[in-house]
Amino acid sequence: MADLTTDFLGIKSPNPFWLASAPPTDKAYNVERAFEAGWGGVVWKTLGSEGPPVVNVNGPRYGAIFGPDRRLMGLNNIELITDRSLEINLQEMTEVKKRWPDRAIIASIMVPCEEQAWKDILPRVEETGVDGIELNFGCPHGMSERGMGAAVGQVPEYIQMVTEWCKKYYSKPVIVKLTPNITDVRYPARAAKAGGADAVSLINTINSIVEVDLDNFAPVPTIDGKGSHGGYCGPAVKPIAMNMVAEIARDPETAGLPISGIGGISTWKDAAEFISLGCGNVQVCTAAMTYGFKIVQEMISGLSEWMDQKGYDSIDDFVGRAAPNVTDWKYLNLNYVTKAKIDQDLCIKCGRCHIACEDTSHQAITDLVDGARKFEVIDEECVGCNLCVNVCPVDSCITMEQISGVDPRTQKEIDPNYANWTTHPNNPSAVTEPAE
Ligand SMILES: Cc1cc2nc3c(=O)[nH]c(=O)nc-3n(C[C@H](O)[C@H](O)[C@H](O)COP(=O)(O)O)c2cc1C
Ligand code: SF4
Ligand code: SF4
Repeated sequence: MADLTTDFLGIKSPNPFWLASAPPTDKAYNVERAFEAGWGGVVWKTLGSEGPPVVNVNGPRYGAIFGPDRRLMGLNNIELITDRSLEINLQEMTEVKKRWPDRAIIASIMVPCEEQAWKDILPRVEETGVDGIELNFGCPHGMSERGMGAAVGQVPEYIQMVTEWCKKYYSKPVIVKLTPNITDVRYPARAAKAGGADAVSLINTINSIVEVDLDNFAPVPTIDGKGSHGGYCGPAVKPIAMNMVAEIARDPETAGLPISGIGGISTWKDAAEFISLGCGNVQVCTAAMTYGFKIVQEMISGLSEWMDQKGYDSIDDFVGRAAPNVTDWKYLNLNYVTKAKIDQDLCIKCGRCHIACEDTSHQAITDLVDGARKFEVIDEECVGCNLCVNVCPVDSCITMEQISGVDPRTQKEIDPNYANWTTHPNNPSAVTEPAE
């Protein structure tokens, strides 16, 4: 059976599934039940400075986007960092770490952007014996208005400065959690590396308004007639998170910087995709909030089964395997030609592929053949865009097949050799040898 243990920055855990800093990791009661359910580690709900804790709203703090079956696709929240006292959190972290030495516990921290504030809290966190810290430079609401969270994460110079303070006053691994509310995530990642970060984690939540209540014309969640932007997470953000992970993984300036992947991970497959893009482990929040702690058991068994099928003995066997295959558009092979193919035995004749291709693509799917309702691809028109595959309700009914020889659409012989935009005759800056 595959070995799921991970060693992330020297922090060992029985599997790569950690709970992200959020309500599931808010207190010992939750964290211990999460460990009993099988989670490999937790990032404790973000701690703030000594003193009166932050105050959350006393009304609704979530909004959501649903799929047609009311499956939760995206979650929006206006919650702040922990509203429990620093003292209680530190005490509970110390006790839980003692009771669960084989699980990873990371302290998430957000204090003002002043050296003294970090100098005060870090020795106290060190005393708890937890395995490392994660700097919350991502929270997009409430805390950012006070100059913390995303307000720091959006300024690379601040990221570097605070990371340097943490490396100065704390001896264990420092993970910098990045905000996605930025144009190019490579800059904050580079700043974290320059500051001495041992790893980056991403993504935190995305600024969002998920719904406007049309009875009172206010964003949801609505607090006494007003709403505020919140942080978006859950399955809907996974594509954005994976792109940001890939950007960092393939940036020569941050190559080799360990990454903890976060954002919409709900299944073992989501986790395997993040890991293949270069993440040493993954963190989960919304899936645990939606389905409970036991969801990790399906993640563990699914990942383990898939690794056995593929012959991977350990997580390291496939970490980063997809990263070299993420490239810029200009390097894609323009001599790779495909056509859609419809399996007539699977087709239920719903007509969605015809409408999509007819109205918005290349008029390459019939609706009638010899007067009978039939959906067939017209190879002379098909550009191989695969829109039809994505709108067809039947899995594997339409497939894309590579062709060779003469392309019936262009009537030209397909060159079997790789060639990209860098050498294409239509490119005014074309070179003679294709760059890869
Ligand atoms: C209600 C809620 C509270 C959160 N609080 C924190 C927090 O205190 N610190 C932090 O770093 N991230 C916080 N997050 C962000 C999550 O840790 C995570 O980065 C984000 O939800 C994306 O992961 P997911 O799609 O699995 O939920 C919070 C998320 C939610 C939903
Ligand atoms: S691949 Fe694109 S062009 Fe070809 S049949 Fe499908 S939708 Fe039409
Ligand atoms: S969308 Fe799929 S099932 Fe529907 S007609 Fe087209 S091929 Fe058949």
